[in-house]
Amino acid sequence: MNYICTSCGYESSKWYGRCPSCSNWNTFEQLNTTDLKRKKRGNVHLVKPTKLNEVVSLNKSRLSTGFEEFDRVLGGGIIQGEVILLSGDPGIGKSTLLLQVALKIATVGASSLRPFESPPLTSVLYITGEESEDQVKIRAERLVSLSSLSKANLFILSTTNIDAVIELLKSTKPTLVIIDSIQTMESDEVPSYPGSIPQIRHVTGRLVEIAKTSHIPIVLVGHVTKEGIVAGPMLLSHMVDCVLYLEGEQMSGTRILRSFKNRFGDISEVGIFTMQEKGLEQIQDASNFFMNKKDKSVAGSCSTVVLEGSRPILVEIQGLAIASNLSFPRRVVTGLSDKRVELLLAVIQKHGKIPIATSDIFVNVVGGFKIEERAADLAVCLAIISSFKNKPLFSTAATAEVGLLGELRNVISVEKRVKEAKKFGFQTILTSTTHTSLIDAIKTVI
Ligand code: TYD
Ligand code: MG
Repeated sequence: MNYICTSCGYESSKWYGRCPSCSNWNTFEQLNTTDLKRKKRGNVHLVKPTKLNEVVSLNKSRLSTGFEEFDRVLGGGIIQGEVILLSGDPGIGKSTLLLQVALKIATVGASSLRPFESPPLTSVLYITGEESEDQVKIRAERLVSLSSLSKANLFILSTTNIDAVIELLKSTKPTLVIIDSIQTMESDEVPSYPGSIPQIRHVTGRLVEIAKTSHIPIVLVGHVTKEGIVAGPMLLSHMVDCVLYLEGEQMSGTRILRSFKNRFGDISEVGIFTMQEKGLEQIQDASNFFMNKKDKSVAGSCSTVVLEGSRPILVEIQGLAIASNLSFPRRVVTGLSDKRVELLLAVIQKHGKIPIATSDIFVNVVGGFKIEERAADLAVCLAIISSFKNKPLFSTAATAEVGLLGELRNVISVEKRVKEAKKFGFQTILTSTTHTSLIDAIKTVI
């Protein structure tokens, strides 16, 4: 194995211009395997298996991040020796979120914390390879008051040398370590430059090893490359315990923390935050947040209930249909899949018998939320038709998939979704049980 794709981690004995695995161009780099000699391990005769029920479970003590939304995504908090990779686009708020977590954990005596060990003197080590110590301090001053900053047992180190960091971890025992970012770290043991696949692999391997032996949890920040993937994703995701992704639109303040892999929790949970003047704030009442609380008597709005993990969230879909003078009318979609909306428009035209083919159509999900579920189909159709016919839907929520024949299909956990809509006072709630087809639903509300 002499070459490696820097985008997906595919290894091969020969060089390729285009990666056979991820189809990216010019991503192959030579990997000097002789430089990656394996270190000698301890005495192999000493290994001894433990009976499963006698293994001490670390699950019981979890360290709270100070954000319930973050804890839930992690499966209840951080576990001893856990290695978490937090990835996301540049500027999305990874450093901000982790600095907030660091400040919360490092503040001695905070009541919401359940530190691993007693006495509960918690300290956090924040290693930054991207910013200087004073830059981190300026950010911290923005996040908390000066008096609480002085109480925080938070140590900052601006370095890119991982060997020095490992030595430091061996001599001090912080409650949590944050490495911002993994791409800036380098080791003298590997000859390639920081951010290259061999370096990332080596550095992560070293950190995982120290996390497991010293039981110190480590959070790694990983950047997303142009292609939208963490540099060396295959490479890192199997090495760490948990892969989180912080996403959101730069323009809207909403940030969603998702988990792609979690050895200690459910990956379907999400955490919802909003970026404010003083850092990220968690949103626990998500339905309230994603609803447009203004006038409901304007045509073009329909609400739906999506499931994020086990949580039902009420979101509003807005549609705008206006006569177009283009030969190819515009279809502008935010927060949903364009293809799905195209398909729904075809169904509206054919089975809903509404001539929208010559209209410009704009569809938007309120609050910068991204919907991947088909449960929003009916609400999308109704929002567009409501705008086209200029008939407001008032207090209507809809949750059903729309099939190609214009039929309404069942979605999972309908009862839960209906309950959430009822909680917010929706009077008309359309589902595949109340209506069998799109045209049926149209007749009821429009
Ligand atoms: P940052 O955490 O530096 O992003 P990342 O580490 O993912 O690259 O986030 C930077 C953005 O967050 C920046 O555009 C400014 C904004 N921000 C706020 O809106 N409020 C704040 O309190 C802070 C610290 C940052
Ligand atoms: Mg950063």
